[in-house]
Amino acid sequence: MGNITEEIKRRRTFAIISHPDAGKTTLTEKFLLYGGAINLAGSVKGKATARHAVSDWMEIEKERGISVTSSVLQFEYGGYCINILDTPGHQDFSEDTYRTLMAADSAVMVIDASKGVEAQTRKLFKVCVMRKIPIFTFINKLDRDANDTFDLLDDIEKELGIATCPLNWPIGSGKEFKGVYDREKKCVISYADTEKGTREGTVTEIPIEDEAGLRALTGDAAADKLLEEVELLDGASAELDLELVQAGELSPVCFGSALTNFGVEIFLQHFLHMATTPLPRKADIGLVDPVENAFSAFVFKIQANMNKAHRDRIAFMRICSGKFDAQMEVRHVQGGKVMRLSQPQQIMADERKILSEAYAGDIIGVFDPGIFSIGDTVCMPKEKLQYEGIPTFAPEHFARVRQSDTMKRKQFVKGIEQIAQEGAIQIFQEFNTGLEEIIVGVVGVLQFDVLKYRLENEYNVEIRLENLPYEHIRWIENKEEVDIGKIVGTSDMKKVKDMKGNPLLLFVNPWSVGMTLDRNKGLVLTEFGRG
Ligand code: G4P
Repeated sequence: MGNITEEIKRRRTFAIISHPDAGKTTLTEKFLLYGGAINLAGSVKGKATARHAVSDWMEIEKERGISVTSSVLQFEYGGYCINILDTPGHQDFSEDTYRTLMAADSAVMVIDASKGVEAQTRKLFKVCVMRKIPIFTFINKLDRDANDTFDLLDDIEKELGIATCPLNWPIGSGKEFKGVYDREKKCVISYADTEKGTREGTVTEIPIEDEAGLRALTGDAAADKLLEEVELLDGASAELDLELVQAGELSPVCFGSALTNFGVEIFLQHFLHMATTPLPRKADIGLVDPVENAFSAFVFKIQANMNKAHRDRIAFMRICSGKFDAQMEVRHVQGGKVMRLSQPQQIMADERKILSEAYAGDIIGVFDPGIFSIGDTVCMPKEKLQYEGIPTFAPEHFARVRQSDTMKRKQFVKGIEQIAQEGAIQIFQEFNTGLEEIIVGVVGVLQFDVLKYRLENEYNVEIRLENLPYEHIRWIENKEEVDIGKIVGTSDMKKVKDMKGNPLLLFVNPWSVGMTLDRNKGLVLTEFGRG
């Protein structure tokens, strides 16, 4: 192992965001393949087994009624040590998916070329924007019929409000997919389907000046189209300004096909070249530099009951500075205790590896006897610092909770508060009444089942959930300046408060949000709660 600075500098920690089925898993598999972390010999079978293992793990988790792991994968490529954070989708989409983005230094956005920007990408993208992290786009599935390339880029710019800079440009799509034009090298790289290879296949590179060669490869129509598009592109598109990329204002875009292994390694190389090393992070003492400072980390996710027999929890921490050594003592700042972190491990899907050391940029999972909360800081015993909390993300589904047996009020309140503290659900109360009515808000509907299951199994309390029609929640950013009682909303608006007493507004549709803003001049609403 090199020295600490070198180890930190070679780390790249990123999250992959996409809508389900855009090709996130396939792309990740190809990354792992290039890094030698998986072996393609018998890949098709290997891939199936790997998937099987992951989904089995998730099934088990679901049966136990706990939230689904977002896994962390670490691999080496070209001297870099890369951490990929997965952001689960479909019914597994939950607040954890958002929180994972708090632990990443950049994001890779995978878009299906026949679909453009889709709902889940849009949601996750908002968090990336809030954090101002660089976003790299991979437009996937060019081996299938794709939307017009300019339209795809327009869609990203309009839907997400980020400028794009294509690093390469596709020539045709589907059966007519001929390859990509590399804008830096000014040459055409011909398409090769190398699904079964361990590296990207041998590619033919034809300089764009070699018009005869180009026409021979693509045919006249495609060559004419390309030459025209390249001219348009060079005149119209943003320049590749690294500062803008790193500020999250310009997204470099690559085209390819993850399945057939085309354009993926090029994308990975561009990405590694442009992505940042672990970033300094805001704490109460100012920015904490990953290299200059001794070990520190924050908890971004808590996974409950991975082992039913022990009712244990795993706290996932992102190391923000220095080196972690399993033997050393650390201070849990919020708990005011100095301790050793127990069973530090790297968690890869269903596989756990006990770690002896890790560096800024890495993610570790530690055994949590119930002391950690999301957003907590750990650091060296002599240090005193506290990282900024993790924001609360907007739930989209709400239900009123009623107890079947009102005698068990105490267990009910204890259970629901503990589950909320782990970050599995959010709880709210009517703004003007006492504790009686509890409203639960979740990001993904699966979390309702988790709540019901856990209250029954762990706290012996049965509940009934009564769905509420709200889908949009807003925190009041300037609550000190506003008289909440006097806010005039639409008839379907509801005023609630969270456990800390912060006022919030619930709405049925975005129109009502707009109307309420119009009717109350000076009111500032946000989609993120302060952590
Ligand atoms: P996700 O993690 O984003 O949900 O997507 P995943 O990689 O699982 O891919 C979703 C489906 O799209 C898979 O097909 C996968 O093989 C396919 N796919 C991914 N990348 C490409 C690509 O570049 N070109 C084409 N043509 N297809 C691609 P599936 O049939 O659902 O799964 P499987 O049975 O093939 O594994």
